[in-house]
Amino acid sequence: MPTMLWLVYLLSVSTLALATEWIDYPADGTATLTHYTLPDGYIASCGCTGDSTRYPTVAMSQFAYGSSTAYGPGCGRCFKITLLNTYTASPPFIPNVTKSVVVKVTDLCPVGGAGWCSATPGKPNQGGQYINFDLAWPSVAIPDDFFPSDEAFYGYTDFGVWNVTYQTVDCLENWAGAKKASALGSVDDGSSVCCPANPTGSANDTCPSFSDDNGIPPDTATSAGDASALTVPNIGHSLLPLYSLFVLSFLCSGYLVE
Ligand SMILES: *[C@@H]1O[C@H](CO)[C@@H](O)[C@H](O)[C@H]1NC(C)=O
Ligand SMILES: *[C@@H]1O[C@H](CO)[C@@H](O)[C@H](O)[C@H]1NC(C)=O
Ligand SMILES: *[C@@H]1O[C@H](CO)[C@@H](O)[C@H](O)[C@H]1NC(C)=O
Repeated sequence: MPTMLWLVYLLSVSTLALATEWIDYPADGTATLTHYTLPDGYIASCGCTGDSTRYPTVAMSQFAYGSSTAYGPGCGRCFKITLLNTYTASPPFIPNVTKSVVVKVTDLCPVGGAGWCSATPGKPNQGGQYINFDLAWPSVAIPDDFFPSDEAFYGYTDFGVWNVTYQTVDCLENWAGAKKASALGSVDDGSSVCCPANPTGSANDTCPSFSDDNGIPPDTATSAGDASALTVPNIGHSLLPLYSLFVLSFLCSGYLVE
């Protein structure tokens, strides 16, 4: 009898652990980098202030971000991202300059189909990485020629996906927006926002997982496409429709389908 009870206990504990399993990534490592369009002043998933968009920001892939809806532990974190190579181009392109940018996470990049943000704890994305950073670019904060290219050889300048290294950095010392008070923190909507100026991982200054606290809704997706599965009600801002558009336009351009 006690053995049975122990088994039941173990089973329920492991079920609980499954429900809250996010990617526990190292402070420094490698990742993939894509880019997306974030309108100036847009209040994205974390609910960071509109002025944060005037500085370098990224959306982080869902299972590293730590929530499927609204804010998560990734919100507000800063990373120095350095471009390595674009291995999806043929032949791969290795730039002859080193380009880096310090970004703040303000947005969620949802899991969806074979997308670059679809890594789970048990399965990396198609680039073999567990994190994808989706850079808000073009941006007033990042030069239009940030991404190196060789148009004469490839016939285009936008490689779309980069292999990168990332380092966790202190936001207040390293992020370009840190000196602008209006670019830090979150908008006041009462509940579904969380954007620490400088999260350290301590419970006092790091967002919890919104979806763990509130329950992940069942998957009611139909065959209409990945993007429809992203429609989650009850969030205070309109990240998801924007993202759906982004994903759709990507799919249409054939860019994600490698
Ligand atoms: C770097 O590469 C670009 C494009 O591939 C080329 O135009 C440029 O001349 C190179 N610069 C140096 C210093 O090699
Ligand atoms: C990405 O860069 C890392 C570090 O240089 C390298 O080990 C890895 O092979 C690269 N990945 C691809 C797909 O090129
Ligand atoms: C978090 O805040 C509480 C209350 O202010 C404080 O007692 C605690 O020491 C803080 N913890 C950390 C890790 O800073």
